[in-house]
Amino acid sequence: GAQGAGTQDLAGRHVVVTAGGTREPLDPVRYLGNRSSGKQGYALARTAAARGARVTLVAGNTELPDPAGVDVIPIGTARQLREAVLKAAADADAVVMAAAVADFRPAVYTTGKIKKIDGQEPEPVTLVRNPDILAELSADRPRPGQVVVGFAAETDDVLANGRTKLARKGCDLLVVNEVGEHKAFGSAENEAVILAADGTETPVPYGPKEALADTVWDLVTPRLAETHP
Ligand code: CTP
Ligand code: CA
Repeated sequence: GAQGAGTQDLAGRHVVVTAGGTREPLDPVRYLGNRSSGKQGYALARTAAARGARVTLVAGNTELPDPAGVDVIPIGTARQLREAVLKAAADADAVVMAAAVADFRPAVYTTGKIKKIDGQEPEPVTLVRNPDILAELSADRPRPGQVVVGFAAETDDVLANGRTKLARKGCDLLVVNEVGEHKAFGSAENEAVILAADGTETPVPYGPKEALADTVWDLVTPRLAETHP
């Protein structure tokens, strides 16, 4: 990262990172999911640990190995992610929401497998909104002075959408990726602009997700509260 290899600028700090996608069950065998690989969140967890932080990684389903020295809390749904994050964030210096949280979940969970019926079309699936965890954390910080970071994948006018989202969420930093056919999802590489609530914009050139992760921590560290528990 920009602070150079071997920096321990997160020593004594506790950071919470969310990663991967949530899964919202419809019945015992089906769920509503998304294409998040979890790679960016895992890179954030690894780099924070390398910089000396105690790291809690709240992880949706991924195929990635647990990073060494990181406390991994597996979750399924957005509501489980919310519970785990709020609990871990109580004494955290920073929370980074890299997870792809499902905006909606099936309104009803069917306890038995939904079966086909000959000659009948299926019932439509009604969806309801999930809680917005980033907005909630930003508005009501579990610890005073805690730094809150969001991620946004956008298309079309990426920067304008990112600025609007930063203001709407109320977080300190928003990492904005442009998504398209071969960008961001599942890839080991990423390109982004990091927007700060103070108006600064930090472009991050196309490169490894580790490099983007280190740039996020470079921007988090000067914003951390002077004292910590
Ligand atoms: N996020 C969250 N809770 C949700 C949805 C999103 O905490 N229910 C977080 C994500 O982890 C991410 C940020 O909010 O850090 C932005 O997610 P995004 O899906 O881009 O924002 P939304 O507000 O859901 O807007 P959109 O309608 O564009 O999906
Ligand atoms: Ca969303």
